[in-house]
Amino acid sequence: MIKVKNIHKRFKDNIVLDGVSFDIEKGDVIAIIGPSGTGKSTLLRSINLLEHPEEGEIEFDDFSLDYGNHKKKDELDLRKKTTMVFQQFNLFQKKTALENVMEGLMVVQKLPKSEAKKIAIEKLRQVKMDDRLDYYPKHLSGGQQQRVAIARAVALKPELLLLDEPTSALDPELVGEVLDTIRTLAEEGNTMLIVSHEMSFVKSVANKVIFLENGRIVEQGSQKDIFENPQNERTVEFLLKNRVELDLGYNI
Ligand SMILES: Nc1ncnc2c1ncn2[C@@H]1O[C@H](COP(=O)(O)OP(=O)(O)O)[C@@H](O)[C@H]1O
Ligand SMILES: [Mg+2]
Repeated sequence: MIKVKNIHKRFKDNIVLDGVSFDIEKGDVIAIIGPSGTGKSTLLRSINLLEHPEEGEIEFDDFSLDYGNHKKKDELDLRKKTTMVFQQFNLFQKKTALENVMEGLMVVQKLPKSEAKKIAIEKLRQVKMDDRLDYYPKHLSGGQQQRVAIARAVALKPELLLLDEPTSALDPELVGEVLDTIRTLAEEGNTMLIVSHEMSFVKSVANKVIFLENGRIVEQGSQKDIFENPQNERTVEFLLKNRVELDLGYNI
């Protein structure tokens, strides 16, 4: 069980996260949905300490961190437990696909090169990128780059994988391959927190859903609760709006 407690984050006088708390059980795939600008990215970034919340805590079974008051070493320990997949992939442009995945294994986990390489190849095979090991990001499609980024994040065996709109920067025809990769990770039991506006994907992959608005959790529950029996009128409004958008989009 992972507990995220009472996260507060502001940028100057803009309160972006106003006391966000929720629990994550092993194997959970929790979707965070909500309007644009509502704090979803800031929440994931705060959890991983890419932003620095003024207040809040995270508790794992064997480790906890006070976001408002912690040491550098805690930050490194947290990064071993949570890894992030970004909207814009954020691969090292001067490294090949293989080197991108090896990097964290050598730097964060301090594995010897030969072992890092073995694991990296295996992870790239799992995302069906083992035929592109020596390609640089600029010679890969967006979907391929994102699959490399996913392999890089998963290679570190995080207890919690954070995915921030992992398909939003992709051309529509490349979305499906990345969603399929994430679906496989979910089926393999990886614990994930995923920000997504792909509602049909959320519905089919997430077991829990959090609706975030203006830095607060308006409603959270099982995927069924939120999609079939939402209690808050804001949730209803958001879902209706997004279903309409879904109808206009493509089907996965
Ligand atoms: N680094 C930053 N500096 C200042 N304001 C920021 C920064 N990052 C995000 N914000 C602000 O925080 C709010 C929430 O942003 P974000 O978390 O990106 O929302 P979402 O991911 O839900 O679209 C927005 O008002 C945004 O302008
Ligand atoms: Mg965002």
